[in-house]
Amino acid sequence: MLARPAWPRQCCYFPSPSRFTGKFFPLSAFPGFRVQKLLAIESSCDETSAAVVASDRSVLSNVVASQFELHEQFGGVVPEIASRAHVRRILPVIEQSLKEAGCALSDLSAIAVTSEPGLVGSLLVGMTAAKTLAMTLDIPLVTVNHIDAHIYACGMGQPQSIFPCVGFVVSGGHTNLYDCRSATDFTMIAGTTDDAAGEAFDKVARILNLTYPGGPSIAKAAESGDPAAYDLPRPMMRSDRPHFSFSGLKTAVLYAARGVPGPNQLSDTPADRVPNLAASFQQAVVDVLVFKARHALKKLGHKRLCVGGGVAANTVLRAHLADMCHRHGYQLHVAPPQLCTDNAAMAAIAWEYLEQGKTADLSADVLPGLVRPGQPRKKSPTGN
Ligand code: KG4
Ligand code: ZN
Repeated sequence: MLARPAWPRQCCYFPSPSRFTGKFFPLSAFPGFRVQKLLAIESSCDETSAAVVASDRSVLSNVVASQFELHEQFGGVVPEIASRAHVRRILPVIEQSLKEAGCALSDLSAIAVTSEPGLVGSLLVGMTAAKTLAMTLDIPLVTVNHIDAHIYACGMGQPQSIFPCVGFVVSGGHTNLYDCRSATDFTMIAGTTDDAAGEAFDKVARILNLTYPGGPSIAKAAESGDPAAYDLPRPMMRSDRPHFSFSGLKTAVLYAARGVPGPNQLSDTPADRVPNLAASFQQAVVDVLVFKARHALKKLGHKRLCVGGGVAANTVLRAHLADMCHRHGYQLHVAPPQLCTDNAAMAAIAWEYLEQGKTADLSADVLPGLVRPGQPRKKSPTGN
């Protein structure tokens, strides 16, 4: 196995002439310094993405090839179709990201790749491309946890660090809360026991005959609906347990839409019920997410809430989170909409590992699956 050399810390920061004052200045402050660039690759689910991100965290390109059209007829991601599409798209997407960044392969200082969690076949495509590039260019490989990257996206483009904070990832596969002490020190404190919030949006969209992905189409249908029209449950909201559960809410929408199982249950949802059901469902999810986020802030004593993942693009959720944080004196950082859904730019978190000398070697493997409460965090190939 080829061991990669540790990334020298001096590559990014070194003591300034005022070292005796204990201050550190970024190398970029020195004349002649060239900001370094890494290529990030993301293929954990159904988006093939590549980005070039500089060591000052500026995003030079972020190309995302989504596969909505391939999975739409199934109402959800079909793993085998996703991995085959990644194989076809990965090289053009990488080439496009380098082109948009005005960057040659020889300009790269490292390769970052999502190694966990996600679909095994999809992750393997990105990992194989990343290892091949790292080996041929003889530059370090860094593995990235996709959920950590969703939280990191909340701070991108911000002048100040977002850490320490409560990190909240609300995506198609996860609804997880984290105690984030620093950019590389996250502990999970809550997760969903069944469906994730985004998964519930996707499944409810099918019940309401709306298009995939369900989040944006439910949000659109909800604009003309009344969020109080249906009295839907707020699962686990008042429970002492910090976790989430959305599968019961999905079933409640089904029964409200078509009636309970039996001879009188409708085989389809009447179109005139859709706006009110969409608005009531969306409000139920938002109420639970906001309540649990506040609970975590109180419990952990952090002053900052950072929310990422596809569902964080939802404008009603963003407004309610902003209102809660404003009323209770918390700072809110929600990822910019283009960095909420899956993208490679958020793998900029790799720079944090590089600065700590944490790199992976070519034996690095993917860690597929979903992160659920009660599971010990697996050791990733980068050791983070
Ligand atoms: O983070 P993401 O792109 O992929 C995963 O890591 O899972 O999240 C995708 C999820 C989908 O379930 C999609 O329906 C949901 O994010 N989503 C939304 C919105 N945009 C995307 N959910 C609610 N409102 C939206 N505007
Ligand atoms: Zn994601």
